Amino acid sequence: MRESSLREILASYNDQASLAEAWTIPASWYVDERIAALERETVFSKTWQMVGRVDQVEKPGQFVTATVAEEPIVVVRGNDGVLRGFYNVCRHHAAAVVTEPCGQASILHCPYHGWNYGLDGSLKGMPEFEGVKGFAREQNGLVPVKADTWEKFVFVNLHPQAAPLADFLGGLVKRAAPLGWSQLHYFDRRVYDIACNWKVFVDNFLDGGYHVPHLHAGLNSVLSYKDYTIENEDRYCLQSSPMVSDGAAPSDMRKGSRAWYFWQYPNLMINCYEGYMDTNLVLPIDADHCRVIFDFCFADVSEAQREHNQRSVAASDKTQDEDLGICEAVQRGLKSRAYGAGKLSLRREAGEHLFHRLLAADLKAGLPETAAAAD
Ligand code: FES
Ligand SMILES: [Fe+2]
Repeated sequence: MRESSLREILASYNDQASLAEAWTIPASWYVDERIAALERETVFSKTWQMVGRVDQVEKPGQFVTATVAEEPIVVVRGNDGVLRGFYNVCRHHAAAVVTEPCGQASILHCPYHGWNYGLDGSLKGMPEFEGVKGFAREQNGLVPVKADTWEKFVFVNLHPQAAPLADFLGGLVKRAAPLGWSQLHYFDRRVYDIACNWKVFVDNFLDGGYHVPHLHAGLNSVLSYKDYTIENEDRYCLQSSPMVSDGAAPSDMRKGSRAWYFWQYPNLMINCYEGYMDTNLVLPIDADHCRVIFDFCFADVSEAQREHNQRSVAASDKTQDEDLGICEAVQRGLKSRAYGAGKLSLRREAGEHLFHRLLAADLKAGLPETAAAAD
């Protein structure tokens, strides 16, 4: 049987259908490495990607490193106070210049042959390089990428013509402003490697609580499921639920009157309760694997609160375990000949519909430039 072309696979999803008429994106989008490659070029190389927290890069010389769309990136605060992003790739023979996940340095020193770069990316010195022809030091600084911050978060965008971060975030900026995230402090991190496509994890997040009563008994006991609301705007979806406090087990972990679950296209989630926030960053590995990084922040990270905060992280960990198992089962099902695509609940799954339409628009727009040859 002839293999479908990338163009045919993209054309098999109708991004104009209303929620009532819509199907999910087809199973092939979750399993085909050509789609994964197209996403790298047209989604992850063109959207603003979160790479760290502002508190990690407050002082001159403080840096964070990350990998975005398979590109090594470093973001560093200059002596002039300006935050700059660079490809973390030495101009000599391409080694990673900065090798720590985060830290502080007065110069950026390549560990391979000892080339030095300033915090502004300029090449400062190259040992034993006298007499080399056709080489200009001032043209061999680290290659810049766009970097910016919003709330507690540092973002980069690999696309030189990218619109500003605030435009990309759109209505989310106003929506999140009253929630007081700047009062929260980083506490801990959990990293999950999952045998599913990154979009399976996002879909699971965006099902409007549909799976909560069935999969998460603990979480379900503190949320008022029937009152769950789902709002789409620009590139974000806010799912929100009033909290109930009936004394059920985890209620001392999840406080306040409301739970707020934000998703910002394509791969960032921000969950908050009173005095609590966790971010979930979903990083594609290949078509069948992703890594999800959870960072936990609390209003009170004092020693006295440590045990309470640890219990809160453990409660999240339990919920994630439940999600992980189902995400991996879904990935196996998406590969089955028995499945092509599914329908969406009008009451619950509007967020997934937004996700699929935004993704389809980016992939279809990106196809002519990157994949015409694949037809
Ligand atoms: S690769 Fe960096 S100094 Fe040679
Ligand atoms: Fe879940």
